[in-house]
Amino acid sequence: MYADRIRLASLQDKIMSAAQAAELIEDGMTVGMSGFTRAGEAKAVPQALAERALRTPLKISLMTGASLGNDLDKQLTEAGVLARRMPFQVDSTLRKAINAGSVMFIDQHLSDTVEQLRNRQIKAVDLAVIECVAITEEGHLVLSTSVGNSASFAILAEQVIVEINLAQPLELEGLHDIYIPSYRPTRLPIPVLSADTRIGRCAVQIDPAKISAIVISQQADSPSTVLPPDDDTQAIAGHLVDFFKSEVDAGRLTNSLMPLQAGIGTIANAVMHGLLDSPFDNLTMYSEVLQDSTFDLFDAGKLAFASGSSMTLSARKHAQVFSHFERYKSRLVLRPQEISNHPEVIRRLGIIGINTALEFDLYGNVNSTHVGGTRMMNGIGGSGDFARNAHLAIFVTKSIAKGGAISSVVPMVSHVDHTEHDVDILVTEQGLADLRGLAPRERAQAVIDNCVHPQYREALQCYFDQACLRGGHTPHVLQEALQWHINLEETGRMLAC
Ligand code: COA
Repeated sequence: MYADRIRLASLQDKIMSAAQAAELIEDGMTVGMSGFTRAGEAKAVPQALAERALRTPLKISLMTGASLGNDLDKQLTEAGVLARRMPFQVDSTLRKAINAGSVMFIDQHLSDTVEQLRNRQIKAVDLAVIECVAITEEGHLVLSTSVGNSASFAILAEQVIVEINLAQPLELEGLHDIYIPSYRPTRLPIPVLSADTRIGRCAVQIDPAKISAIVISQQADSPSTVLPPDDDTQAIAGHLVDFFKSEVDAGRLTNSLMPLQAGIGTIANAVMHGLLDSPFDNLTMYSEVLQDSTFDLFDAGKLAFASGSSMTLSARKHAQVFSHFERYKSRLVLRPQEISNHPEVIRRLGIIGINTALEFDLYGNVNSTHVGGTRMMNGIGGSGDFARNAHLAIFVTKSIAKGGAISSVVPMVSHVDHTEHDVDILVTEQGLADLRGLAPRERAQAVIDNCVHPQYREALQCYFDQACLRGGHTPHVLQEALQWHINLEETGRMLAC
């Protein structure tokens, strides 16, 4: 059965239903599942696990690459399966459980998870559930639309459940570049010398004896939910394009810029779209998630190559890309997230990292994760991996949120993910602040002049002036520094204006 998909004949007798495979997962286990930004997640087994848990309660620690699609985090949360969850999520039901303290969430740099597993710093993965398009003649795993942490989960786990997803095209075979760094302290350099370097194998090498179940599934990835560009996101993209032009004019960048990384979500996707109407060409991406904009840039002849860890597309773009995938395949590679996000490679290649902030402050500290300083939104994802090591660390956001009740530029951020030391450029629809080479007082004035919404500009200037009267290298009025957040909590608005 499925001879083109399960090519090692001796594995045929491992085929079973999702419900039977889910029985292999025991209460208290640590389970590593495939899935990265709603792409390539195991689907049938987690659904069967949630159904089983509704009848017979059990709890597991769940690790993935990043977020899951098909409402899996919602189903697993509602069934009470999740005791611990790492390293990223975007699900509103799970978010509520995390913020209620009923699921322990470990918000982690995405390059770190398997490094900690490999070095036995966190509890070992007992069992891996991995979506594949095929198992090779050698019993090796051909992954689907994401690599994420799947390769290391499968290599490190004691047993592996494989989901062969017939809805994922076999043409994905050959896209992946599976390279696993060796152990410290004798590790060799990771030989990625440009975005298009291939350094590994197309399949994950595991001992096929570890495959304890094979489940046939036929469910598509969830389509991306990013919204089309609007006036504000187009303005942000416009400011960035102007900035890149000035960098080219100054001889600091060429017309191909540097390899680009763009974060998740609507704003980052819109910013990449902005490059369609720019003078730049022969661009490359060394990123994490490849969204619709990647393929629009290919089609416009702007993009030469894209390296990522997953492909997360809208339904329309998915249909278009997979109707003639051969057009793109030779210009794409999917890598493990510890390689796509590896500090060594990001430094070497000189990545331009463009990520989205929830809020940033006068001095350039960025909060990407915690609403009101306490409530988890999604997680830091790969933004820290890129920002800390990028050639240019850029953060974008709209200057206001919730109809103006919130200013995304505040006196002091309510939670810090990226410190002022890691941030080069801040952009809102109002303008761009280039913080390179500026001292804190100069940074603050650049932020006020360029990024703040007019509704909040005077108040922020007033705060800064008063802070400067008190002195200090990084002036603050500590009694008032978090007042805008307190106002928001108490009145639903940061300022009464
Ligand atoms: N305070 C409270 N809420 C805010 C806010 C702020 N300062 N700024 C934005 N928001 C809200 C928006 O109103 C919106 O809410 P809604 O979903 O109820 O409409 C939500 O946050 C998302 O904001 P949006 O403007 O639509 O941006 P986005 O879809 O691009 O997402 C992040 C922005 C920050 C949530 C998202 O990029 C993220 O999770 N980043 C962290 C991980 C990361 O950077 N990964 C990158 C490496 S791949």
